[in-house]
Amino acid sequence: MKKIAVLTSGGDAPGMNAVIRAVARAGIFSGMEVYGILHGYEGLIDNEIFQLKWSDLGNIMHTGGTMLGSARSERFFEDKWIDKAADNLLKLGINSLVVIGGDGTFRGSTQLSKRGISIVCVPATIDNDLGYTDYTIGFDTAVNTVLSIISHIRDTSSAHSRTTIVEVMGRDCGDLALFSGLGGGADLLLVPEIPVDIQQIIERVREGQVSGKLHNIIVKSEGVDIPTDELEELIEGVTGQETRSVVLSYIQRGGSPSGRDRTLASLMGAKAVKLLEGNEEIISVAIGIRGEDIISMPLETAIQTKPVFDKNLYELALVLS
Ligand code: F6P
Repeated sequence: MKKIAVLTSGGDAPGMNAVIRAVARAGIFSGMEVYGILHGYEGLIDNEIFQLKWSDLGNIMHTGGTMLGSARSERFFEDKWIDKAADNLLKLGINSLVVIGGDGTFRGSTQLSKRGISIVCVPATIDNDLGYTDYTIGFDTAVNTVLSIISHIRDTSSAHSRTTIVEVMGRDCGDLALFSGLGGGADLLLVPEIPVDIQQIIERVREGQVSGKLHNIIVKSEGVDIPTDELEELIEGVTGQETRSVVLSYIQRGGSPSGRDRTLASLMGAKAVKLLEGNEEIISVAIGIRGEDIISMPLETAIQTKPVFDKNLYELALVLS
């Protein structure tokens, strides 16, 4: 009987549980034994591997976080621990692994494929920073979370005629700021891909003051060079307009996954099982979405594909604000 395992690693993302459910249930449905690994690569090194039953996957589709736990493993950078992790799987007769996570998680998994384990990577990160796929699981939910917070902030900013900077996550990728800024009607978007123009920020705030605008919402990526508190002081100092900032932090990583993320997770999880089912040789692939199609490609190619920032969407967001 074919045995496969699944793990989640790196920063959690809403929809990870829906992928675990899809992988495990599609696998069991196809007659496989499916194993869960706790705490990502850390649990793999420590042999925290257990068989998943159909009933273990009930009641998790709608939940954020990950039922398997996650971690950023320092040990997994060292050969001796990677060898141990691979041995733990092979000793149980498991030679196929579905890896759910982002860029760092994908890179880590290449070490296992070099040790005789088939790898299928499923992209799940709120950052949407994997260039080979249009979207990653968790991104849509995070955008919706930020949108809902922006509408709260808009109320209080209007009431007090303030400028408010909303700092969102995303590492070096501005997508979360871009999509939530566009949808939230932000007055300015600050993203790592576009150099910050302080003069433009000041002019925007001043234009608002002159036209009697009640508030300014600035959505800023965490990856932008200038620290948020410095920017807050600078705007208030130069324009005289009261300015506040909110760092959304982990709030945007939790929560129930959106319908779109649940669908994406189910399709990608099932596709991962299909790829492993039909292959006896060692494979190393990543799954993604392009347009409406669920795609797969060699893992190395996926990792090397740099994300391209959508400048047109950025310009549009500014035109419409
Ligand atoms: O990669 C997801 C992410 O949430 C990034 O947006 C953020 O920079 C990072 O993880 C935070 O990592 P940690 O959970 O280790 O603090």
